[in-house]
Amino acid sequence: MKDLFERIIKDKGPLGKWAKQAEGYYVFPKLEGPISNHMKFNGKEVITWSINDYLGLANHPDVIKADADATKDYGLAYPMGARMMSGHTKYHEQLERECADFVSKEAAYLVNFGYQGMVSAIDTLVSKNDVIVYDMDSHACIIDGVRLHHGKRFTYRHNDIESFEKNLVRAARIANETGGGILVISEGVFGMRGEQGKLKEIVAFKEKYNFRLLVDDAHGFGTLGKSGAGAGEEQGVQDQIDVYFATFAKSMAGIGAFFAADKEVIKYMQYNMRSQMFAKSLPLAMVKGALKRLDMIRTMPELREKLWENVNALQNGLKEKGFNIGKTNTCVTPVFLEGDVPEAMALVNDLRENHRIFCSIVIYPIIPKGMILLRLIPTSVHTLEDVDLTIKAFSAIREKLEHGDYKKIGAEIMM
Ligand SMILES: Cc1ncc(COP(=O)(O)O)c(C=O)c1O
Repeated sequence: MKDLFERIIKDKGPLGKWAKQAEGYYVFPKLEGPISNHMKFNGKEVITWSINDYLGLANHPDVIKADADATKDYGLAYPMGARMMSGHTKYHEQLERECADFVSKEAAYLVNFGYQGMVSAIDTLVSKNDVIVYDMDSHACIIDGVRLHHGKRFTYRHNDIESFEKNLVRAARIANETGGGILVISEGVFGMRGEQGKLKEIVAFKEKYNFRLLVDDAHGFGTLGKSGAGAGEEQGVQDQIDVYFATFAKSMAGIGAFFAADKEVIKYMQYNMRSQMFAKSLPLAMVKGALKRLDMIRTMPELREKLWENVNALQNGLKEKGFNIGKTNTCVTPVFLEGDVPEAMALVNDLRENHRIFCSIVIYPIIPKGMILLRLIPTSVHTLEDVDLTIKAFSAIREKLEHGDYKKIGAEIMM
């Protein structure tokens, strides 16, 4: 019989196989200093475009103080136990009430991590007779939640409404046979390419197919809509979203997440959601910190205004220079270039070392072969000078890429 670890050591996985070339630089890099538009990487100051601190709250003095005060008062252990048993406090309830109010829902339920919460929520909401219909480009937490489902599931082509309806028809046929219902899942904002989910078009089918809609609005919360309540507010369909989800890991610059829905649905989740029934509750310091952040999002629209000033300057500037930024209609700013993996490595190295720009790089198999995606996340603490320098740097690297300058360097990096 084989040793279980034989395969793990030999086959390191699709990303792990690049560890030797990539670790510490392209993956698991160490950004140092306070979270901001400028941080240190490899001992040098860089402009950071890879941090989802949309509203600049991570290093805001009022947030730091709220976190410090709460930690001083309660430590990081309090409360001990799962919510149902001994991990419940009035502050958890207050945060849930305030989150629900902010996104115009009756009630909310906190979870400790967005990823884990989403997996568990999908598992909780459906039975084996129900059918799930979800977007092909969904975040891993949705895909993994669907994996737990014992019934049928259908994917539709990304944001393709024709494909969506085709799959709804299939789902309806099955649900009619099993006596179950349909759960549709979309993201409010697809975080890799920055396109909003077509929520308005999706909800138009609700009457005909009688489905319930779950929306993962990780990137929309705090950034989209008049009040910052997200993609549903932006598209005028918040009341049609049956279960709304947002993480605290992005605009809220914290940790944790919440689901918001009608009272009965949240009550059901409280009594049936395994990730919360069988795990310790969110520490109070995080809860109190989240209350402060939510208050700032509600009362300081200037943070969102500054964010959008930077988003518009960056996206318009890139478009003016002829860059392909895809179909983004959110803050997430993808820049698509043509090149292979070694070239991508050399190009990012040049960006970091010579232009002092730090952004995320996405390559095959996450996007098609021959493409390089550089992903920029503007925040309210970036400056127009950061934007200017970045567009200049991007123009310089594009010229070198088109000239083939990165081919040889890239091949050396990959050795
Ligand atoms: C769309 C989406 N959903 C869920 C998550 C997971 O959230 P968390 O970081 O709170 O686990 C993320 C963040 O990485 C995300 O981008």
